[in-house]
Amino acid sequence: MFSKHYPLFGRLVTGLLTLAATASFADTGVLKDAYRDDFYIGVAINRTIAIGPTRPGFYLRRTADQVDKDIALVKEQFNQISPENDLKWSLIQPRPGADGYDFGPADAYVNFGLSNHMYIVGHTLVWHQQTPGWVFAGADPATRATRDELLQRMHDHIASVVGRYKGQVKVWDVVNEAVADNGTNLLRNSPWLQIIGPDFIDKAFEFAHEADPDAILRYNDYGLESSGKRHKLIALIQSLRQRGVPVMAIGTQTHVSVSAPSFEAEDETLTDLETLGLPIHITELDVNGARSGQNDTGADVANNSGATQGGMIDGANRRLANEYAALFRAFVKHKKSVKVVTFWGVNDAVSWRAGGRPLLFDADDKPKPAFDAVMAAAKP
Ligand code: G3I
Repeated sequence: MFSKHYPLFGRLVTGLLTLAATASFADTGVLKDAYRDDFYIGVAINRTIAIGPTRPGFYLRRTADQVDKDIALVKEQFNQISPENDLKWSLIQPRPGADGYDFGPADAYVNFGLSNHMYIVGHTLVWHQQTPGWVFAGADPATRATRDELLQRMHDHIASVVGRYKGQVKVWDVVNEAVADNGTNLLRNSPWLQIIGPDFIDKAFEFAHEADPDAILRYNDYGLESSGKRHKLIALIQSLRQRGVPVMAIGTQTHVSVSAPSFEAEDETLTDLETLGLPIHITELDVNGARSGQNDTGADVANNSGATQGGMIDGANRRLANEYAALFRAFVKHKKSVKVVTFWGVNDAVSWRAGGRPLLFDADDKPKPAFDAVMAAAKP
């Protein structure tokens, strides 16, 4: 009412309210600004954040107020988003055929990114997890799909999903976690490998490139801090590139722990990956294993409540901060190749490893000492 008659006053009030809502960040800084000249600073978001608190999704344990704060935090701190679950096969195409898609949550995710001018990643097209059983089943459910049937399903899925968001989703995780963890086999013994053969990877990239020739197509995997798995990945990507497969970026998930990797080990990981000559994306960053009641070296400390007391940082928070500092020093050192750094969750409460408190913000969206460490690493 007041603002109707006094439009300037209305704008002033709105401006002050916005300022009040963001004041906490002004004190501590903004991640995406600190790293603006280096790489995107991203975050995986869930359905509740993309849709908003009025239509709760998976994370019902957040109240509407908390979801509002989570959304404000995402908008303030990050300029890139990844979908934690909603673009995975079992969620976006739970049933077979053209009628089997459920695009609602994925549309909300993409619209969230578009309306907030964020760099939008799609995750993930071909994976051995979160893929419905029908994808691998034959016409008679007692049998398995043939190679041709599975290739047809893969083609149709990729054409529909990538095609729908063409030009909007800029980067796709085309194949996820195909490299074997242990042993001498290069590839994981997944239904994709068993039914199609090793060229399932080639085909997935070809189909995605056909659906959006401008999208950056990423191969994404975890555990690349270990040199055995890293060298398998390097061999895989080299052979794909020799065959002309359009793999355009390496996604290294970076679900790491407070005790490893050191700066030197992460530096070596990135140096090795750089030999491929492709952009490197840190796709699912979190640091696990810091427990309350520990000192800086991880040893248990008697009578330590683990809480921050009298302005002192407890051992768990300090270990987390030290590990994040080491990682970001390495990312900055390799900023010519590192183009994206995505945290796997907004805060400790919504993390897939909530108990481990592995992120920069606590359950109240307050920055932890690890946040300050990441901010400090931006200005070496
Ligand atoms: O579908 C049900 C839903 O109906 C129910 O309301 C809800 C209640 O908890 O559970 C829902 O499914 C869960 C889903 O997350 C959404 O919350 C699944 O049980 C749960 O297994 C699933 O976990 C996800 C996991 O991938 C699946 O493997 C995590 O949120 C997600 O963070 C995690 O992300 C993966 C990356 O995609 C690939 N790299 C590893 C990373 C961590 O595991």
